[in-house]
Amino acid sequence: MGNIHQSITELVGRTPLLELKGFEKKHDIKANIIGKLEYFNPNQSVKDRIALAMIEDAEKKGLLKPGDTVVETTSGNTGIGLAAIAASKGYGFRVYIQDQVSEERFKVIRAFGGTAIKLTEEPAIAKTLEETNGDFIAAIDSLKKEVLSKEENIFFVDQCSNPANPDVHKRTTGPEIWEDTDGKVDILVACAGTGGTISGTGAYLKEKNPDIKIVGVQPGPNSLPSDTVPVPENEITGVHPFEGVPDNLIPATLDRHIYDEYVAVEALDAYETARQVAKTDGILIGESSGAAIFAAKQIAAKEENQGKNIVVILPDTGLRYLSTGLFD
Ligand SMILES: Cc1ncc(COP(=O)(O)O)c(C=O)c1O
Repeated sequence: MGNIHQSITELVGRTPLLELKGFEKKHDIKANIIGKLEYFNPNQSVKDRIALAMIEDAEKKGLLKPGDTVVETTSGNTGIGLAAIAASKGYGFRVYIQDQVSEERFKVIRAFGGTAIKLTEEPAIAKTLEETNGDFIAAIDSLKKEVLSKEENIFFVDQCSNPANPDVHKRTTGPEIWEDTDGKVDILVACAGTGGTISGTGAYLKEKNPDIKIVGVQPGPNSLPSDTVPVPENEITGVHPFEGVPDNLIPATLDRHIYDEYVAVEALDAYETARQVAKTDGILIGESSGAAIFAAKQIAAKEENQGKNIVVILPDTGLRYLSTGLFD
């Protein structure tokens, strides 16, 4: 009947493109900066795409059956997307989180009926954390080996190694951009966490037109942990660097050959840009979106890029950062 959807799974993707006319005018930008507004997904982030894709892929492969519980180790946007999709499909959801995660995140996961467990609450993992001086990667490894492998009726999603992650961007995000620009896209700008977005979207666009440039965005030197400053004062949540990462920490979901170049953006510039576009264009976006737009502005300033169409992935809503002070 009419146009009534039957499940939030039908509302994932097909997000709009918006040219940031006000921002272009403010900075006298001579190229077209076009944001892909991923906060139009049902749970306000790009991660709804992979949450749905990874769950449906597991269903098809028989790894996830009615009555099972979906398990992941992030309470970020992926955790929230998974909690919602699991709820709508009738699965349980459990997430293991680090102690410093904000109370807000717990509340959202619980609102969807999910369970949030602190890593330190599992004795085997607490022991690993103690022995390794808080090494999160080692903790997840012991979670897999010593806890999850002994359990039945669970599906461990593992977004950093799950091929359904980049694949859904190749099947949906890339084609949407191609169609909505009538194939007139010159440059794609995106940050990377797992790398799924840039790898899948980039792969599709390069297949359609190998001349399209794929530009990654990484945190600048002052926004990254270093030997002298292990916890920088300002970081861009969820955004990982492309260079200087040890091989064992590079997610399997990142295709290191997909990007033509990457641009470094400092957190303070990312925050300021997010605040500016709220005022110039009326969109409330998160800090990684701010970083991507700041990078696009620099790319647009190059002589050779005048008049070009620069599509920028804006992963999530600024509402998720109210408690971090982004808009204070
Ligand atoms: C908030 C947020 N969501 C999503 C993404 C994209 O992530 P991925 O590379 O895992 O696809 C990023 C990457 O920077 C991000 O900061």
